[in-house]
Amino acid sequence: MTARREPLEIGAREPRPEDFLSPIDFILAEHYRQRLLCEGLTKLTENMELAPVAALATQLQRFLDRDLRLHMEDEEQDLFPLLWQRAQPEDNISDILDLLSEEHGLDQDLVDFLLADLAVLAGGAQLANPIRFLVNVREFAETQRRHLAWENALLLPVARRRLTEVDLAGLARSMAARRGIDLAGR
Ligand SMILES: [Fe+2]
Ligand SMILES: [Fe+2]
Repeated sequence: MTARREPLEIGAREPRPEDFLSPIDFILAEHYRQRLLCEGLTKLTENMELAPVAALATQLQRFLDRDLRLHMEDEEQDLFPLLWQRAQPEDNISDILDLLSEEHGLDQDLVDFLLADLAVLAGGAQLANPIRFLVNVREFAETQRRHLAWENALLLPVARRRLTEVDLAGLARSMAARRGIDLAGR
């Protein structure tokens, strides 16, 4: 792996049915892509210059409006409810589940701000407040990195330990259906 990786080469490719054989691994792979993207965005905004970020406006729109939105739905609608159902008191994750759910809501507010500005940039127009946009990009990258690190360290191990085969099959079906893939009968 080279040090100079273009941050947005990481946009998720079209998923295939076999990607959902292990839905937890799918989530982990999404987190890996998100982390590379956020590291890239942090580097890209180091000098607070608009041009390098503006050049990626369309790809960023796609990531935020599709990949990340689907990922948050996977977690909020499928993974977290299963964890609430299956985690044992000794797993000690109820506080972190509450906190991460709250962050999903806050993230969505920030994402909405970013998408409004990205739509302006993608349309070739000038931003009224480019500094605010760049600050929001940095804030997004930093909060996402922390958020997904917590999910990897604290939630996914519990999911691997506690979710049953039936849970995992249901999780896989639901995540695949969210992306237009029907796993029924597989
Ligand atoms: Fe999350
Ligand atoms: Fe996540």
